[in-house]
Amino acid sequence: MSPSQRIAVAGGTGRIGLHIVESLLSLKSTVPSLHIIVLSRSVKPEKSNITFAGSSAPIIAVDYNDTSGIESVLREHNIDTVISALLGDVEVFDVAQQNLLTAALNVPTIRRFAPSELSIDSETADSVTIYVKKRPILQRLREVKAARSASDSGSGVRFEYTKFVTGTIMNYLASGNPKSSGEDAHGHMFAYKLIFDFENGTAEIPGDGQALLWTSRIQDIGEFIAHATQLDGWPEQMDLVGDVRSMNEIRCLAEEILGKKLQVTYISEETIQSRMDPNVTPLAKMAFEVLLSFGRGEMKRSKTYASLKDVVKPVGLEEFLRMWWG
Ligand SMILES: NC(=O)c1ccc[n+]([C@@H]2O[C@H](COP(=O)([O-])OP(=O)(O)OC[C@H]3O[C@@H](n4cnc5c(N)ncnc54)[C@H](OP(=O)(O)O)[C@@H]3O)[C@@H](O)[C@H]2O)c1
Repeated sequence: MSPSQRIAVAGGTGRIGLHIVESLLSLKSTVPSLHIIVLSRSVKPEKSNITFAGSSAPIIAVDYNDTSGIESVLREHNIDTVISALLGDVEVFDVAQQNLLTAALNVPTIRRFAPSELSIDSETADSVTIYVKKRPILQRLREVKAARSASDSGSGVRFEYTKFVTGTIMNYLASGNPKSSGEDAHGHMFAYKLIFDFENGTAEIPGDGQALLWTSRIQDIGEFIAHATQLDGWPEQMDLVGDVRSMNEIRCLAEEILGKKLQVTYISEETIQSRMDPNVTPLAKMAFEVLLSFGRGEMKRSKTYASLKDVVKPVGLEEFLRMWWG
């Protein structure tokens, strides 16, 4: 296999998707032949492309219920690699991604597909409904890969997929920081105090604090995925680990950097569940499920994918916390 050349990013206008697109556009300075397009449900006349680092990617309108329309766009641009950074309501998310894959599989130039993982491993995160919805497409991708390998007549064009597992976004741990450029900490993500509220010196840690928190900076996720497109082959999973340590270890590290003790409450599953009012917003529901998942130890220890560990040097948590809280 050879590196990706013509890449479509579905959801490339989104929070993580935009970092992926910007990193791919940066890569064009060393790989000028790269062709990047962004798929979106709507294109505004005043924003019909994404420009970054002196290069641009057109934003092209697609309807995720219209597979033949998506197929036409992918064919027109001779796309070889589809990266999904889609999200959306639990009910529509899998349907949109599956339709994207159906369209891609009809395009002869397509040889790589990455579904929208970009978080804790969906196959270990049993507690998070939207992550469980990420599993059927992985199963289908495995079947497609096996079927295409079996029918490979020696053309040399194999089908590859990968699961980008990147942990939780480290940038959340800069929320409320006191720096004058503090908003820059978030990249295209929003500020959100996850477990730790360093601004107010408090933390609500799920479980006993021994469970792991695997974090990566959103900017490093974009860079990791961009460089992954230039690998000769894709394994079925590529992990990016900015940092992995227990929540108690993060507490100690933060206390040292902040120069003060945090007021910590350890919250039980029962407490988290008692807060899950059935009328909470989907985002709030997901946040509670993520806390349950963390407390249950569904996040595992891992290492950055070996073939990229010398190419992408992710920022570790200590460096990140010192940058925004030191
Ligand atoms: N590691 C973490 O801590 C973390 C945090 C957040 C997200 N994530 C993961 O990262 C991925 C992307 O999340 P994100 O927060 O970047 O997403 P997002 O910005 O909320 O959405 C990404 C894009 O999905 C498209 N979209 C939204 N609703 C849709 C729908 N109903 N049908 C089809 N497309 C729809 C939108 O693109 P258009 O409007 O342009 O069509 C949107 O820009 C997800 O897999 C998510 O689970 C991980």
